[in-house]
Amino acid sequence: MPYPYVLLSAAVSLDGCLDDTGPERLLLSSPADFDRVDEVRASVDAILIGAGTIRADNPRLLVNSPERRAARVAQGRAEYPLKVTVSGSGDLDPAARFWHTGGDKLLATTDKGAERARALGLAADVVPLGPDLDWRRLLEHLHDERGVRRLMVEGGGTVHTQLLQQGLADELQLVLAPLFVGDPDAPRLFGPGAYQDGRLRLVETRRIEDVVLMRYEPTAPGTGTQPTAADHHWLALACELADRCPPSRTAFSVGAVIVAADGTELARGHSREGEDPVVHAEEAALAKLDPADERLRSATVYSSLEPCVRRASRPKPCARLILDAGVGRVVTAWREPDTFVADADGSGLLASQGVDVIVLPEHEEQAKAPNRHLTAS
Ligand SMILES: NC(=O)c1ccc[n+]([C@@H]2O[C@H](COP(=O)([O-])OP(=O)(O)OC[C@H]3O[C@@H](n4cnc5c(N)ncnc54)[C@H](OP(=O)(O)O)[C@@H]3O)[C@@H](O)[C@H]2O)c1
Repeated sequence: MPYPYVLLSAAVSLDGCLDDTGPERLLLSSPADFDRVDEVRASVDAILIGAGTIRADNPRLLVNSPERRAARVAQGRAEYPLKVTVSGSGDLDPAARFWHTGGDKLLATTDKGAERARALGLAADVVPLGPDLDWRRLLEHLHDERGVRRLMVEGGGTVHTQLLQQGLADELQLVLAPLFVGDPDAPRLFGPGAYQDGRLRLVETRRIEDVVLMRYEPTAPGTGTQPTAADHHWLALACELADRCPPSRTAFSVGAVIVAADGTELARGHSREGEDPVVHAEEAALAKLDPADERLRSATVYSSLEPCVRRASRPKPCARLILDAGVGRVVTAWREPDTFVADADGSGLLASQGVDVIVLPEHEEQAKAPNRHLTAS
């Protein structure tokens, strides 16, 4: 199921706090950074915060710039992004500013929370998601029912922690403010628990007055058949690699990346790479690795087209090479059409041998793009 692109946004003190414990909200960002946040808000379809942030800060969560709001309207979008909050209890102040400013509001909650919220008369669409609040169900709802393609999450720490730990955050925009809080009871950005192994990818740093913005992407592949945000990033890279293939009338252009469980890129390849006019993408990537490399056993192969199951050019098809390498997880964008091989089912072969195969059709168009000359009827 496609989810919105999920962007986590937060500002922290040098000692990692989101706020102090005083009654007023602690201002961590600088004026220019608040303006940047306003710009990001104006670019998204929805903004989400946890109930704890409504209780602590009583925020309005608006796009403040009239020009940015006008630009949204000119593009045929709502003047304000949808405002979303999550609460298990449904116990929120009906007079909070969140409900009475901006455009549409949505409360995602549990069945019990919905009863409470309705009894309180909260001015929002109340969406019960079952006995517990499941983040994947909420993201699916926002994508499918509300048309949300980009979701900005503005905290607090409980919400950020869950989205990152569950592999649902596509990006973290973190601002570091040059001050200390020093209070052991102050809320922290991330709580304890299981995060991805290894390192996130730093994609940008930017000085904004006296604060620094850092943008990170998660890198660790998911496990089993559950896709994570990082799976989407790696598959998009595999699709980009497909664009680098020398064109051919007799073979597909495919890109592949092999990624270790901790998010380390092990190898990449694309069709007809280097001096080899028949090499396939997965084959080219696997050839760069020592077959005894232990990391292969828990690695994920990303391939823009599903690994081939029959081929004339070499004795072993890519699905067999992947099985021989001991790789247990494959993520692909596009099932092989009948163009060269009838009823190719590399995914089926891999799955029958215990490999977890995930097809993410959101990337199919990108995977097909360099192959239009082969598939156009
Ligand atoms: N510096 C920054 O950038 C920034 C940004 C935002 C917030 N903050 C600060 O962060 C603090 C608030 O953070 P917080 O961690 O206490 O609260 P929070 O993350 O805003 O909200 C937590 C609440 O959300 C609901 N919730 C979250 N996950 C849920 C789940 N899986 N199932 C059901 N309900 C769920 C629960 O509401 P119920 O209790 O109603 O069940 C929970 O108590 C405040 O001090 C605020 O100032 C700072």
